Amino acid sequence: MNQAPAAISAPQEQTPVNHQAIQVCFDGSCPLCRTEISIYQGLNSSTPIEWLDVSTEGAPLPQGLSKGRLMSRFHVTRADGEILSGARAFVALWSRLPGWRWLSALSRIPGVLAMMEAAYRGFLIIRPSIQWIFRSLNVSHLPSTMIGDMRSNQAGETGAVWIYRGILAATRDAAVREFAQAHLETERKHLLAIDALLPALRRSKLLIAWRIAGFLTGSIPAMFSRQAVFATIAAVETFVEHHYQLQIDHLGRRGGHAELLRLLIEFQKDEQSHRLEAIDNLYALNHDGPRDQLSDHARQPAQVPLLIRRWCGLVSAGSEIAVKIARVI
Ligand SMILES: [Fe+2]
Ligand SMILES: [Fe+2]
Repeated sequence: MNQAPAAISAPQEQTPVNHQAIQVCFDGSCPLCRTEISIYQGLNSSTPIEWLDVSTEGAPLPQGLSKGRLMSRFHVTRADGEILSGARAFVALWSRLPGWRWLSALSRIPGVLAMMEAAYRGFLIIRPSIQWIFRSLNVSHLPSTMIGDMRSNQAGETGAVWIYRGILAATRDAAVREFAQAHLETERKHLLAIDALLPALRRSKLLIAWRIAGFLTGSIPAMFSRQAVFATIAAVETFVEHHYQLQIDHLGRRGGHAELLRLLIEFQKDEQSHRLEAIDNLYALNHDGPRDQLSDHARQPAQVPLLIRRWCGLVSAGSEIAVKIARVI
């Protein structure tokens, strides 16, 4: 039983070490290739290996090979100038890497190299799908502690877009429509920016639920009154402003990721202006005079009927629950 590992390791020790220098051409724009190459680069090669990322602008490509061809197949140039591709290129590389030489030795068994080449060609067919999955999962540009928050932001901004769509679908009131249309544009920009940061497979899986919830949150008050719409928006934006503040505080304490911090501060300012505009509109429904001269201190939520207050309480509680769920899924 204990002799099995020795039997496996024997070919490695017996495999001749190749000392000829090579140049390895790889597609650095492919996350899969990048990951594989970084593993090879971490090994102590028996000979100098020149790593050439052919995806970079102005990379000195081997003579006679186009960038497209080099990115579509793996290539290795040997010291004598011979260019190998596919399985033969991998074998040339493996023969120089500790822990991989046994694969190079295996390729010398008749028929094995052809099988390796067939497997590589099969891999090339599914490579675009695997690349998509890699890219869709890659969140290395985000702080790991904020993936859940970013997912909740994506759910929230989706809900916000659909709140204003719900308002627009339910009311013909010109003033409310103008208010909703302007806010909708801002929420769309927020959502696009979050979508760009959060890869597809890391986004919330409950987008349909957030759309429906947003649509109902906007359309129900819009069927009743301006006051109900403005009170609802004031309640939602109060919650969202606080939600962004928590993330801004977290990132501020954590340090780094200045661009993400700048984006969250910008979003929060937009949400704050939405809240203040809604409160100004509520105030103007009950008072005469210029509402744009109100100080922030004076912008307290106006008194609204009990039913609307209850509705706003429900909306705030629903937002809280939605954020908790979206952090996870
Ligand atoms: Fe927003
Ligand atoms: Fe907003």
